[in-house]
Amino acid sequence: MKRPLAYIAGTGRGLPATVMTNFDFAKIGIETTDEWITDRTGIKQRYIAKTESATDLAAAASRRAMEKAGITAGELDVIVLGTASPDRLLPSAAVDLQAALGAGRAAAFDIGAACAGFIYGVTVAEALMCTGNAETALVVGVEKLSAITDWTDRSTCVLFGDGAGAAVLKRSKQHRGILSTFIRSDGSLGDLLCRPGGGAREPFSQNVLDTRSQYIKMNGREVFKNAVRSMSEASARALDAAKLTGTDIDLMIPHQANIRIIESTAKYANIPMDKVFVDVDKYGNTSAASIPIALDEAIEQGRAGEGSLVLLVGFGAGFTWGSMVVRL
Ligand code: ACO
Repeated sequence: MKRPLAYIAGTGRGLPATVMTNFDFAKIGIETTDEWITDRTGIKQRYIAKTESATDLAAAASRRAMEKAGITAGELDVIVLGTASPDRLLPSAAVDLQAALGAGRAAAFDIGAACAGFIYGVTVAEALMCTGNAETALVVGVEKLSAITDWTDRSTCVLFGDGAGAAVLKRSKQHRGILSTFIRSDGSLGDLLCRPGGGAREPFSQNVLDTRSQYIKMNGREVFKNAVRSMSEASARALDAAKLTGTDIDLMIPHQANIRIIESTAKYANIPMDKVFVDVDKYGNTSAASIPIALDEAIEQGRAGEGSLVLLVGFGAGFTWGSMVVRL
């Protein structure tokens, strides 16, 4: 096991004011039921940003994380932000967040790794700290997926939610910190979960609007199979690298996409469900924000605290997947 170089000094989450329950879909003419959504996904409600921007949510999460870490924005050397739903396509969401926080001396950039964005972000931030490029880093996952969801497609619109989660990384003291990381991608499967229109290949046009191709398109069954396989592999890889097994772990915090994916991954990793943090019922799938929101909530609820061994594992469009073992 390597000596940790960076540790999580504080976490925070930022959520919109509006909650949408499964019963609210009837009000917007979507043919679905609470029973269908609950049975297939475990989701009961999600937060939807009506007035908040992605930057607002990210800033709220970041301020809480910095407060808990006991630092000010001016101390940040780097801001790494994972998102698939930035407020605007240029410049990056990270620089918009930097401006909102007043983190004047930080380098800020986005990570495009969809639901695995937080795992990728922490991995990159830790690497920058290892090479002496940063002493203090802010890693954020933020999504306003409601803006890129097709609200006429019942197979996807019931799944997603909006929100942000953040973590401040500082240089490690003693044995607290990131013990192992693992990241992988498979771009040959990119079409299974994507937003085909509105990019440089097919810029915005009437055809994009007519075909609704600016919204998320997903082959749910294929995503499901790959998510289980990849998250299981990722869990094993991070545990092996840290020379640990599932029984050593105090709490597993998986990406919150679907309770059935979570249960299968936990079973494969040999971690009982009472050691798995689940909040997909409350937030839905918040993509890059899901793991840091869950981590923040787990700490707040006392399910994890200083000294806990935590396994984080995620999977998303790309496909991208990854994991890490952290001593909090
Ligand atoms: N309400 C009611 N019925 C629905 C709904 C809905 N919201 N959505 C689809 N259906 C119907 C379909 O029309 C279909 O009807 P038919 O048999 O008459 O044609 C039926 O339900 C079955 O549809 P499937 O898509 O085959 O349903 P499945 O059992 O695969 O469940 C689901 C769909 C929940 C999306 C599942 O595939 C899944 O969870 N996949 C993982 C996807 C995921 O989590 N993606 C998130 C992004 S990626 C990530 O974060 C990992």
